[in-house]
Amino acid sequence: MSLDRAPTTALARPLTLPNGVVVPNRLAKAAMSECLGDTRHSPTERLPTLYRHWAEGGAGLVLTGNVMVDRRAIGEVGNVAVEDDRDLPLLQQWATAAGSGGAVTLAQLNHPGRQVLLGVGNHPVAPSPVRVTGAAGVFRTPRELSSADIESIIERFARTAGVMVRAGFGGVQIHAAHGYLVNQFLSPLTNQRTDRWGGDLEGRSRFLIEVVRAVRAEVGAGAVLAVKLNSADFQRGGFDNHDAEAVLGWLEEERVDLVEISGGNYESTAFMGVPAEPVAASTRAREAYFLDFAEKVRGRLSVPLMLTGGFRTAAGMAEALESGAVDIVGLARPTALEPDLPRRLLDGSAEATTRTPRQLGIRRFDGMANLLWHTVQLQRMGRGLPPAPDRHPLINLADYSRHYAPYLLNRLSGASR
Ligand SMILES: Cc1cc2nc3c(=O)[nH]c(=O)nc-3n(C[C@H](O)[C@H](O)[C@H](O)COP(=O)(O)O)c2cc1C
Repeated sequence: MSLDRAPTTALARPLTLPNGVVVPNRLAKAAMSECLGDTRHSPTERLPTLYRHWAEGGAGLVLTGNVMVDRRAIGEVGNVAVEDDRDLPLLQQWATAAGSGGAVTLAQLNHPGRQVLLGVGNHPVAPSPVRVTGAAGVFRTPRELSSADIESIIERFARTAGVMVRAGFGGVQIHAAHGYLVNQFLSPLTNQRTDRWGGDLEGRSRFLIEVVRAVRAEVGAGAVLAVKLNSADFQRGGFDNHDAEAVLGWLEEERVDLVEISGGNYESTAFMGVPAEPVAASTRAREAYFLDFAEKVRGRLSVPLMLTGGFRTAAGMAEALESGAVDIVGLARPTALEPDLPRRLLDGSAEATTRTPRQLGIRRFDGMANLLWHTVQLQRMGRGLPPAPDRHPLINLADYSRHYAPYLLNRLSGASR
């Protein structure tokens, strides 16, 4: 069946960001944590190998998985942490590989805060000492950050941003979604502070805004500065659509170049399409999880919006772009299975992703199992192998465990000293 020309036209149109940088088309390879750092959290050669797959894949915007700003605060085994220039040559190879197809490249910067699995890190920190619930024993109660700690983490975001831009990335994205540290400051469930870093929404947003300012001061106007923000945490009493809309307005005032909309956290994995709270039928019926929110806020904002989560068909992507609700479509899991999907959507030879991951079928674990299952595909590509979408999740689990055993042993032995 041949494609109507309209979808490809909408996807192929370039986009000029507020700072003048031109994204050559409307498809982005969204952030996926590659977990391809070594046991010291330095990047490995597997990263450039993996990113050459995506560079050839045709997306106009390529985001890295989360790069940690502090090697003492790691979210997953194998995370890359960047604190200074010590790994500059490999970071340069990574940036060159990611941009070799002409895409604008962004390094995603993150700090996990309290979302650190036991064994991966044993001294988590957070705005307030509130533990991740729902997985008893797997997460520790975090230590409350002091004001000095907070200032120092803001500086870390700026420093890491500077290194990544010096390495050749076109800019950075601050990860303020999915329940990590910045999101913990934003949410009233996890930020119970009464000082200037907490309280009302303005106080809870201060950390994000100060990170944005510090990063901009470091990288200058020529680098792209993006933020990934939850439309909501999908938890009763958490960061909600109204909060997100207000924060978007403040980010626009800060002249952020792009905001990516997502939702959820480890307690409510809405970003993987598995929220803890029921969502409205109108949202459930949409291909993209957070499209209703983007449509609602679009008219009141001029900052370019990227939407990630659930997009699978050229028609669904084109419709979201044509409606004006969204400026860039983010694709994560489909590009782990079909790294060349953007190119095929753009040239009209694909109408949709054809590969769907195999699920365990246990709702409670499907969000996390899905993450792990895709991580294994990234690792295969990092070794120069093609993705293996048809394998059973349990085989992937074995693969994952084999790859990570040395990391875990290393961390556990470090923690026991
Ligand atoms: C293996 C894996 C790793 C991920 N790592 C990150 C990450 O480092 N940073 C981030 O913002 N989102 C991360 N995500 C979430 C994706 O960026 C995206 O929001 C989510 O997968 C929904 O989009 P999709 O339906 O296109 O997959 C990850 C998702 C997967 C599957």
